[in-house]
Formats: sequence, structure tokens, C-alpha cells
Amino acid sequence: MLAGKRILLIIAGGIAAYKSLDLIRRLTEAGAKVTPVVTRAGAQFVTPLSVAALAGRKVYRDLFDLTDEAEMGHIELSRAADLVVVAPATADLMAKMAAGHADDLASTLLLATDKPVLIAPAMNVRMWQHPATRRNLATLLADGVRMVGPGTGAMACGEFGPGRMAEPADIATAIEAALGTGPLQGRHIVVTSGPTHEPIDPVRYIANRSSGAQGSAIAGALAGLGARVSFVTGPARVPAPQGVAVTRVETARAMLAAVEAALPADAAVFAAAVADWHVTNAGAAKTKKTADGAPPVWELAENPDILATVAQMARDRRPALVIGFAAETDDVIAQATAKRARKGCDWMLANDVSPETGIMGGAENAVTLITESGAEAWPRMTKDAVARRLARRIADALGA
Ligand code: C5P
Repeated sequence: MLAGKRILLIIAGGIAAYKSLDLIRRLTEAGAKVTPVVTRAGAQFVTPLSVAALAGRKVYRDLFDLTDEAEMGHIELSRAADLVVVAPATADLMAKMAAGHADDLASTLLLATDKPVLIAPAMNVRMWQHPATRRNLATLLADGVRMVGPGTGAMACGEFGPGRMAEPADIATAIEAALGTGPLQGRHIVVTSGPTHEPIDPVRYIANRSSGAQGSAIAGALAGLGARVSFVTGPARVPAPQGVAVTRVETARAMLAAVEAALPADAAVFAAAVADWHVTNAGAAKTKKTADGAPPVWELAENPDILATVAQMARDRRPALVIGFAAETDDVIAQATAKRARKGCDWMLANDVSPETGIMGGAENAVTLITESGAEAWPRMTKDAVARRLARRIADALGA
């Protein structure tokens, strides 16, 4: 809910600017007051007239528009908002923001504001991946700028990849989170993610192929709805999302300790691919080949089951909603249903990780949500979309 919230929306020049019209409509319908700023290039993609009509307010365009200065100086304009949103944020405007330029109204407002800033980048794949944009983005994030998207998909320029502006509904959700009005505000959720590494000796370990993509997306989506997220991650390939408290661990035993330290929580999502065993006789020195060619004997002991441990905690410590994943290669639903009962968790997200599905390490997932009322198959979708849907369900289940 955005009733009474004031949003300064900067529309820069990109084909995605047409989506900003829908964003304005959503924000005003949710009760926000949107003050639009359209850059010179932005006006090539959307007409200031349609922007003004949808916002129901004047559109600001030019730094040296004296009429504007008489009504409201640019410094005042930059501060008379609860949040500054840049959608679309082009590579050029991000570069200006990162370098602190102030050569037009948009860049000047962004330099002068004392309010939080949320950007929704939109650009060609190569521009998004260019080292200059990477550097600028890192600078902006380090400066505390928030970001939503970009998504991956077909682009107006005919290429495919990351760089599509986030959908208006997702930008609206990110705005709610940035303003502290998301439905999970005040809730604490623990999320585990990534593989674990179980040492064999100082240089070798037992691991698995989990990238951490699904867990990262879930943590990000929960934070996006306003939750305080404790993100406990093994050595994942995918970076941790913005806006979560990260604890990095290596082993299953360290992961359990970190999860226990993070409790109490309203909900816990166990997306980590935890190793089932650890080596009990791990060497303090690197294991050497022996003269007689005898291979080393490594003894294994079972790791603690973090999900089962938390799911079976006493009522006063157990999160109200405990969610596990069941990655299976055959008989997926039956296995996952049995696993839900065995571990004592509330929900189980079952997925088929047979190599031919491409799910392990891939961008998409096809899950079935198993609850006490049965199995609900979700269509195949991106891991981000699975995360957003799950986050919504969690918010509903917590009565948020
Ligand atoms: O038993 P299995 O590994 O298939 O169970 C998968 C679920 O249990 C996942 O949610 C995973 O995060 C969790 N798990 C755990 N600790 C373990 C093993 C699995 O939390 N030691």
C-alpha cells in the first residue's frame, strides 16, 4: 500500500519507457503521488503529455525551465519525495549517477537528493555486460542505490539476455520494499542456499553442483516484500541478493549453527543442497600418494539434517512455517510427499533434477508445491518467478 507516498519518477530514454506508463498507473492506483521527470531522450519514447495525464501532475523536463524554478527549485524537487525511482535507468544515466554528473535535470536531481534511490536498469545485453556498466553498477550499489531487475529475455533490439527492464508489477513491489510498506514488513525469515563443502584435507572437499540460484532468488524476493532475511549460504556461484543479512559457511555443521543462531524466525526456507556426509578423518595436511599405491580411506559420518532439526523443534522455537526442497530424479511427487512427512516440515517444493531437465545450475525451475492439502504443480518458469510466487504464498500463509 502506497497511500500518501510521494515518488519522484525519472523516465530516461529507452524503449522500456513505455512500461513506465503502466508503472505510473499502478502507483497512482495504489495511492501514491507520482511526480514525473522525463529526460530529453525519454521524451523520444513516451510523450510527456501521456505521462502527465496518467500521473495527474505536471511533468518536469528541463533544468533551466525558469517557470519550474519559480514554482519549485530543483533542490526542493529532489527532496519533496519519499523515494526517487529511475525507470528505465539507461546505461548513460547510470554512468552519470556513478560519476556524479549534473548536466541535466535528471542527473542534477539524483545528485541533489537526500532520499533513497531505486533504479530499474534497461539496456542492450552487451551494454549491461560491459565492464564500464559493471563498474558503474558496483559503485551505485556501494553508494546504497537499490535496484530492481533487469530481467532476462528477448529484447527490442533482437538480442537475448539480461537487460530487460523489470515488469511494472515487480518495480511496484520493489518500491513498497524500499518504502518499508511491503506485506512482510516486520517478519524475519531464514533462508539457506548453495552447496556445502565438506573438507577431506586442507585442499580437497566433497561438494555438489548446486549454484545457489534458487535460494538467492527466494531470499531476494522475500526481502523485496519487506521481510528481514537472514541468508545462510554455502559457497555458491550466484551472488547473494541485495538487502539481506548474509552469513557465509562451508560445512553442513556450520550451516546448522548459523541457522540456529539466526532463530527465532517467522518462517524458514531450506533451499541449500546440503551434503549428507562429512569426512570424520579429514587430514590436517594434504593427503599424499603412498609408495605402495594404496588409496586413502576416508570415513564418512552423517551430517545433521538442518531442515528436520528445525522442523522438529519445540513449538516456542520452531518457525511457524518451515519449507524444504526435495530435489529428486525419479518418482518425484511420491518421494517429496514422503519426505515432507519424514522431516516434519509444512511445505515441500519438489523438483525433478534429472540432468535432461537442465534445472540444476540452470535459470528455470519446474516445482510442485506439496502442503498438507496436497500437491500443486506450478508451470515451468524462471527461478526468479518461482521465488516471487513462493514469497507471495509465504506472505499469505503468515497472514501478512
Ligand atoms: O534429504 P534431502 O537432502 O533430499 O532433503 C532436502 C531438503 O532438506 C532441502 O530442503 C535441504 O535444504 C534440506 N537438508 C538440510 N540438511 C541436510 C540435508 C538436507 O537442511 N543435511
